[in-house]
Amino acid sequence: YWSNVPMGPPDAILGVAEAFRKDTSPKKVNLGVGAYRDDNNKPYVLPSVRQAEENIFKKCLNHEYAPIGGDPVYCDLIAKLGLGENSLAIKEKRNATVQSISGTGALRLGFEFIGKHYNHAREIWMPSPTWGNHPQICNTLGITHKKYRYYDPNTLKFNLKGCCEDICSMPPGAIILLHACAHNPTGIDPKPEEWQILSEIIKEKRLLPFFDMAYQGFATGSVDNDAFAVRLFEKHGHQIILAQSFAKNMGLYGERVGGLTFVCADQDTAAKMMSQLKIMIRTLYSNPSINGSRIVTEILSSPELKAQWLKDVKEMADRIILMRKKLREGIEKRGSKHKWDHITSQIGMFCYTGLKPEQVLRMTKEFHIYLTKDGRISVAGICSSNVEHVAEAMHKVTAS
Ligand code: LMR
Repeated sequence: YWSNVPMGPPDAILGVAEAFRKDTSPKKVNLGVGAYRDDNNKPYVLPSVRQAEENIFKKCLNHEYAPIGGDPVYCDLIAKLGLGENSLAIKEKRNATVQSISGTGALRLGFEFIGKHYNHAREIWMPSPTWGNHPQICNTLGITHKKYRYYDPNTLKFNLKGCCEDICSMPPGAIILLHACAHNPTGIDPKPEEWQILSEIIKEKRLLPFFDMAYQGFATGSVDNDAFAVRLFEKHGHQIILAQSFAKNMGLYGERVGGLTFVCADQDTAAKMMSQLKIMIRTLYSNPSINGSRIVTEILSSPELKAQWLKDVKEMADRIILMRKKLREGIEKRGSKHKWDHITSQIGMFCYTGLKPEQVLRMTKEFHIYLTKDGRISVAGICSSNVEHVAEAMHKVTAS
């Protein structure tokens, strides 16, 4: 029956992990997928998450179905975490928020909703470069996607001018996808004053901003700072769409817990949106899983646990910053002729190293270091015991 099915290529990011697992070298390092490791290179369970799990266990809860859109208490808490306690949209009950299967599930649901119900320019503009799954999801759904200039390979900075020019060429009503913070893969975010400019021209062009916020807390160590752009746009009256994930900032990767919010013009529209989201979810996965959202709810609803969580996030962000510093020093002290200041100026989990595909190949073949072909490394996978090895490899492959 299935002789027509061709072999598909491995995933550009998760496929790297498969190759890593097969490598038997004791020196091997996985800098492919963005998953935080502690300084012993071990997966990290946040102390706040451990405590939440204990609290939940003691409650002896049942395993009944969640509502289709997820627990309303959870949805309210995560909307506030993203949009802020003072969000006008939340106060006016103009947000339609549902639990999602982490960030990817939120994007998929959001894009699919656009495909079905959006009556304006149904094309999604994405920064160049962007996370590989963004265009893939559109391709699966048959939704047009285009690129706008974001990263300038000459200056290694955000290309504000190019970005604004491209925004001006977008048709009114088009959807613009924005990484809320810790841009993946470049680690370069617009500055607050640049976000102001973007918000103004996006408004002028009547574009619909869709924020992907997968790293709230990872850019600066503060969840409020990292939500700056999202909250600014909401304050400016944009009817934003927001995808959230708790994979990274709570370390709940495998729990697949996140959220999708539509900020609407009024409460009535939000109620209609909610009804359609529920219809969509019901046919996709019926209703979301309960364990991850219980953990998030436990943390966000307890002032003590929330304070602990904010400390945990800051600790992770700080360890990554320290590894950036050590990696840069490690390469520079080996006498590299190249400039490496972007390692420390970029933020979030990733460093867009500038390594060329053939250099990436050498990193893997000669040094057993695994990264994506675009030269992105997950700094969260670097620790005290492997940083010198990574620095040595980066120096060697760029030396000749
Ligand atoms: C990444 O970019 O490495 C992460 O967002 C994980 C993923 O699913 O690709």
